[in-house]
Amino acid sequence: MRQTKQLGFMLIVLGYLIPVIWGFPFGPVLDVDVTPRTTVHVKGLLGCNHFRGAAVNYSSLLLEDGPGLLYVGAREAIYKLDTSNISDTSISVSLEWAASAEQKRQCLSKGKNNQTECYNHVRFLDRYNDSHLYTCGTHAFRPRCAYIDVARFTFVRFEEGKEKCPYDPTKGYTGFITDGEMYSASQYEFRNIPDIRRNFPFPNLRTEDSPTSWLLESNFVGSALLRESINSSIGDDDKLYFFFTERNIEPTAYSSQTNVARVARVCKGDIGGQRSLQRKWTSFLKARLVCAIPDYELYFNVLRSVFVVEGSSVHDSVLYGVF
Ligand SMILES: *[C@@H]1O[C@H](CO)[C@@H](O)[C@H](O)[C@H]1NC(C)=O
Ligand SMILES: *[C@@H]1O[C@H](CO)[C@@H](O)[C@H](O)[C@H]1NC(C)=O
Ligand SMILES: *[C@@H]1O[C@H](CO)[C@@H](O)[C@H](O)[C@H]1NC(C)=O
Ligand SMILES: *[C@@H]1O[C@H](CO)[C@@H](O)[C@H](O)[C@H]1NC(C)=O
Repeated sequence: MRQTKQLGFMLIVLGYLIPVIWGFPFGPVLDVDVTPRTTVHVKGLLGCNHFRGAAVNYSSLLLEDGPGLLYVGAREAIYKLDTSNISDTSISVSLEWAASAEQKRQCLSKGKNNQTECYNHVRFLDRYNDSHLYTCGTHAFRPRCAYIDVARFTFVRFEEGKEKCPYDPTKGYTGFITDGEMYSASQYEFRNIPDIRRNFPFPNLRTEDSPTSWLLESNFVGSALLRESINSSIGDDDKLYFFFTERNIEPTAYSSQTNVARVARVCKGDIGGQRSLQRKWTSFLKARLVCAIPDYELYFNVLRSVFVVEGSSVHDSVLYGVF
């Protein structure tokens, strides 16, 4: 841990934080303050705790409010921090997870960069069950996944990860585990084909990539489960939402809009088609997310992050997007 330098004055441009305005089934969010917060003064950061371990590239986070723990997936390491004070290194623990020298050599021989790509970047971290976490890493261009025994904070079992984790550490990636089911979205494998998947249990499900692609070079930034089945009078299924930016092929009034922010939705109960669309989603839909101030000709087409504030019901849930 290094003491963070105290700067007299600092401004951080956060980008526009604008709530996405949703139609059905989400309630109107017009009563939310939509003023973009673009700056944070340094005094707003005083008292913040910082953590910096020996590893770089912190690319996944898992916050567990109950036990007060924050798990951080980095390059070749996973940290377990205490949320009461993440700076306190006497109570933080790290777990090393490096790709082997042989794996790194193979990565280099594939023409990959040994300064960035030929490391194990930990991209996925989520709760698997009461006693274990599940994690996936790029593993020097040969993805691996593993179970972590939470009590001992050690790996207990490794498995193949190429269906669950991108090879490339810079590709957008999102996913989660819920009810013993893993869902993820990324551009997988060497061909970088974007896909939204149910990774387990069997049968696995995917999006269609031929003859018509449902996704176009999509860069995924977030995902969420909204339990629409709860108290649903019409027997609705729970829904999974995936947020991303992708190449735009629709004609628009503004030809400069080569990218478009989108949300895709699938039903949690989807089991794939019987004849056509076997092992493919049959409930896939996608829609555009419009974040714009047309009077100023400002169009925000690149989605960076989303955050879900879950309400007591799906209609009270609010999704924030950072464009
Ligand atoms: C957190 O831990 C750091 C390092 O041990 C210590 O300097 C700091 O005072 C602690 N902060 C609080 C609020 O206890
Ligand atoms: C990366 O590869 C280059 C040559 O291909 C080599 O000179 C360099 O030492 C390697 N760096 C690391 C960190 O392995
Ligand atoms: C990881 O961190 C290093 C050093 O900060 C940086 O050069 C690199 O671009 C980062 N990302 C990846 C994917 O390696
Ligand atoms: C959680 O999953 C792990 C890995 O499959 C298994 O070994 C363990 O017994 C499970 N724990 C519980 C509480 O079900």
